[in-house]
Amino acid sequence: MALKKSAPRNLTSRSSASRIVFRSIKKLYTLSGVHQKDGLRPTPEDLGLIEKAAIVVEDGKILWVGEERKLKSALKGLSDARVGKYNQKYSQKNSQKSNQKIKYQDVQLNAETVLPGFIDPHTHLIFAGDRRNEFEMRNAGATYQEIASKGGGIRSTVRQTRAATSRQLLDLGQERANRLLRQGVTTVEIKSGYGLTEVDELKILQTARKIKGPRVITTFLGPHAVPEGKTADSYLEEVIRVMLPKARKFADRADMFIESGYFSISQARRYFEAARALGFQITGHADQMTRTGASVELARMKATSVDHCVQISEPDIQELARLSSGTTCVCLPTSDFYLKMKYPPARALIDSGARVALATDFNPGTSPSLDISLVGILARLEMRLSLPEVIAALTFNASRALGLEKDIGALVPGFISDFICLDQPLESLFYDVGYHPVRGVFRGGCDVTPFASQL
Ligand code: NIG
Ligand code: FE
Repeated sequence: MALKKSAPRNLTSRSSASRIVFRSIKKLYTLSGVHQKDGLRPTPEDLGLIEKAAIVVEDGKILWVGEERKLKSALKGLSDARVGKYNQKYSQKNSQKSNQKIKYQDVQLNAETVLPGFIDPHTHLIFAGDRRNEFEMRNAGATYQEIASKGGGIRSTVRQTRAATSRQLLDLGQERANRLLRQGVTTVEIKSGYGLTEVDELKILQTARKIKGPRVITTFLGPHAVPEGKTADSYLEEVIRVMLPKARKFADRADMFIESGYFSISQARRYFEAARALGFQITGHADQMTRTGASVELARMKATSVDHCVQISEPDIQELARLSSGTTCVCLPTSDFYLKMKYPPARALIDSGARVALATDFNPGTSPSLDISLVGILARLEMRLSLPEVIAALTFNASRALGLEKDIGALVPGFISDFICLDQPLESLFYDVGYHPVRGVFRGGCDVTPFASQL
């Protein structure tokens, strides 16, 4: 597929009256039905297929999508509307401008398939070092908890991350973000959590915000583990009093690892009440290795997402379905794969009416993989999700998990035009391990593909 090289790179440099028309799309999947149904029970029809389609973008946002043969009349309608608006606003002041010509940039995508850019709503992208030794230990029979109790696990990555400079962390993080962008990830959530001191946690969040390529959403995860030499209560006190207020400047979401040996439900309640008062969105690592009941507890606290949900019970599933207008369940199958654990009951969650999103959970311990295609393949094979359900889970539903559902995750008017182009049919996705059919990546209507392929 040939992407026209003249596609704009920088949105802000365009005049406000200029628009881009993207043509020559064999199959455009808008996800309009997924958007309309708020991500619940996605069906193949909800993918909102338009054949031989075009997209009109203004200032990075979608103005119109439809069949290319209807483009001419659509553009005329759009021009009239624009001039009408312009007249209203300026007729007294500046009437000679009312007939101004709107400039269109024409981009022939020549794409077989176009769909919204992927959104990875749960990663621990910023850390130094690795935990390759733990892979071998787990494979020989040690559990995650046993490794952690001997000073490995999160604390090991904390030591390696504290020893790294901001520059080193940024280089590592940028390289990982580039790998996601090449696979079509246009938005990535990044958590702190490998610092566990005020300085180190803020260093991670500030570094995350410097990442270029995909749009970055930052999450404060100070209570990821209890640092050496402290008790959970004394550390949490410091997190709530000192770290949370400072982190607010660099993060919009607050997360906690609620797990036996880490933080309890009652500590979670204290933490999230303080976080909510500071205006953070709430999210949590919930019911991953043992059932603490955190998924339901957090959903009742109106968390935007509850993540992992591996150990939830049948009544939990029903309750998460009941609370789906507020909370999205984020499943992280690569961490279940690496930990050789069971997978979350995503099939039952969807069938019961809960909203399910998917993410990589990229981290050096439980999910050392940035492969978005592996996430989807495991969701299909191990969680029995259909392809449309996987696509919804990595686009609109993932945006819902981040509270961004009014802006990204579907290609409908008013949304930011983040989209990806494939030179294969949609069915080529999440089928062949390690194969990524993404050939073009556009963020806000800007072609970021050259950026990705230069890297
Ligand atoms: O999502 N479980 C807590 N956090 C990560 C693992 C972090 C680590 O082991 O370094 C997770 O699986
Ligand atoms: Fe995680």
